[in-house]
Amino acid sequence: PLSIDEISATLKTIGLDTVPQEPNTYPALNPFDIYRSHITELLAKSSGIDAKIIYPTLAWTMKPENGDLQLAVPALRQKRKDMKEFVQELVDGFPESPLIEKPTINGTWISFFFKGAPLISLTIPTILKSGASFGFNPNFGLRDPANPSAGRKKMIVEFSSPNIAKPFHAGHLRSTIIGGFLANLYEGSGWEVLRMNYLGDWGKQYGVLALGFEKYGSEDELVKNPIGHLYDVYVKISADAREEAESIKEKKEEITKLKGTGEDTSALEAEVKKLLDTGVDEQARAYFKQMVDGEPKALGIWKRFRDLSIEKYKQTYARLNIRYDEYSGESQVKDESMDNAAKIMAEKSVSEDSEGAVIVDLTKYSKKLGKAIVKKKDGTSLYLTRDIGAASERMEKYHFDKMIYVVASQQDLHLAQLFKIMEIMGREDISDKCQHINFGMVKGMSTRKGTAKFLDDILEEVGEKMHEVMRANDEKYKQVENPEKVADVLGISAVMVQDMKGKRINHYDFDMDRMTSFEGDTGPYLQYAHARLCSIHRKASAAVTDIPSDLTTADLTLLKEPHAVDLARQLASWPDVFLNTVKTQEPATVLTYLFKMAHAVSSSYDHLQVVGSERETMLARLALYSAALQVLNNGMRLLGLSPVERM
Ligand code: ARG
Repeated sequence: PLSIDEISATLKTIGLDTVPQEPNTYPALNPFDIYRSHITELLAKSSGIDAKIIYPTLAWTMKPENGDLQLAVPALRQKRKDMKEFVQELVDGFPESPLIEKPTINGTWISFFFKGAPLISLTIPTILKSGASFGFNPNFGLRDPANPSAGRKKMIVEFSSPNIAKPFHAGHLRSTIIGGFLANLYEGSGWEVLRMNYLGDWGKQYGVLALGFEKYGSEDELVKNPIGHLYDVYVKISADAREEAESIKEKKEEITKLKGTGEDTSALEAEVKKLLDTGVDEQARAYFKQMVDGEPKALGIWKRFRDLSIEKYKQTYARLNIRYDEYSGESQVKDESMDNAAKIMAEKSVSEDSEGAVIVDLTKYSKKLGKAIVKKKDGTSLYLTRDIGAASERMEKYHFDKMIYVVASQQDLHLAQLFKIMEIMGREDISDKCQHINFGMVKGMSTRKGTAKFLDDILEEVGEKMHEVMRANDEKYKQVENPEKVADVLGISAVMVQDMKGKRINHYDFDMDRMTSFEGDTGPYLQYAHARLCSIHRKASAAVTDIPSDLTTADLTLLKEPHAVDLARQLASWPDVFLNTVKTQEPATVLTYLFKMAHAVSSSYDHLQVVGSERETMLARLALYSAALQVLNNGMRLLGLSPVERM
């Protein structure tokens, strides 16, 4: 990034002798920080109001006519009877500045407008020199900002967490997309991030599956397509189990009927007993018991399912730019951790016996939390029990400062129960650091062939559709080096952007036509904006031979047009958008900005042509577009998208 000396040198040419820097601001990383500090310094001096009060009152504006920053005068909490008079006084007393225009009054607000030329000479070099890191701020994750050697804060982001051998449904897709984004967000903030996938890989259903594999499985199929094959096997064996249950029910009804007439029912009763003792259900139970007891053969089969599923997942995650530091899962939670938790819960009277099971009555704290079962009558653990054990294990292993669970809002209750139980067990050291990031449902996610089962099928189909769209423009299509690959990336962008553009908690409809369109706020639109910016550079290089690699040397004072200033203004605000995203934890915060910025770029093209302009003007405009490209690229990567250069 830019050094403070470089910023200082630039500011000197603008007419500022010192770098404005209020506490905890980053002038070399964020142009807006310079402006806030500068306004604060001037106003503190002219009004006598404490800088500490002024700085946090300087706010973003929603409309450009309200300026670049605005200040609500009543929020300064000065005891003044006549507010109007006070506002006027502040504005009148405000000195001339090389960076900003004379402030203007808007009711009880004061608006500050940045001067165009200094904004450009400050912003464009900052972006070009900071490159891929522009906007991000590694200081946020420091344990102690005043003392970097104290290290970085640590976080676990648990996301995706599908259930092996079961379909990867829309909820898992959302968790994957949002979780990947959050991990990038905190990494960009300088946190040490551990990406964790907590697989659903334990429970009686894996006994059922193993049994099913003995009956219906094929070694070849398993290796070829583990997830699909295991799913088929599971469907078949589950059908068998259902049939058996039906048959037991019918026979029992028959027995009741016959008993009324006094006929002999012993033969039927024997049949029922046989089904109960030897049927799928019992066999699966016995199988799972062997797994729990650590019987090597039973565990071996299950482990193969698990390993093969993970291999396959990894390929899909790679398409989405995601990799994990740890594949944990329900199966990995140690009995010891769960026993230990059970002991603490009993000792602290957090838990109680209830008809042979163990429960935690959380209604004392809130009706909504209800009563949670932590141990079944037969002594086995549950989903919740395993989460309790897992949370303590993770703390022991990683000493995290924050842990995020990215799970659908359908599990709001589950996570609320988990966090509350940890707290009343006396583990506030854990519960205080946990956060559930939830999200709404995707409706109608299906392929043309029918209701979707597998993520890969969806991605395949969206990719095909994008390929069709690309082929429609033959001339461009011929220039794309690997069109299948690009189509795949575009398809993935389409899915991801549709998923991230609304607030997380909202449900949305999976709409293949809308998401793959180039019009409107879509993934393909963003990719197109990116590719077009790339092509500007290519075309300029083709037209003129000696374009300097360092465009900060261009004469930026040539960028005088309102479109240039407006674009620079938007680019300068990207670090603040990032900052705000850390607060909202919403990918939509980034997307809303990127769309707005991309629109500003696209409306500049007619006014700020590159090829065909005079050399110096061309270089200056190229610098501006390069800065826009950099910001778009940084934003897209933050979201987990792979920006394309041609399409
Ligand atoms: N495997 C679970 C499911 O598919 C999600 C796991 C969420 N994470 C957790 N720690 N409970 O529903």
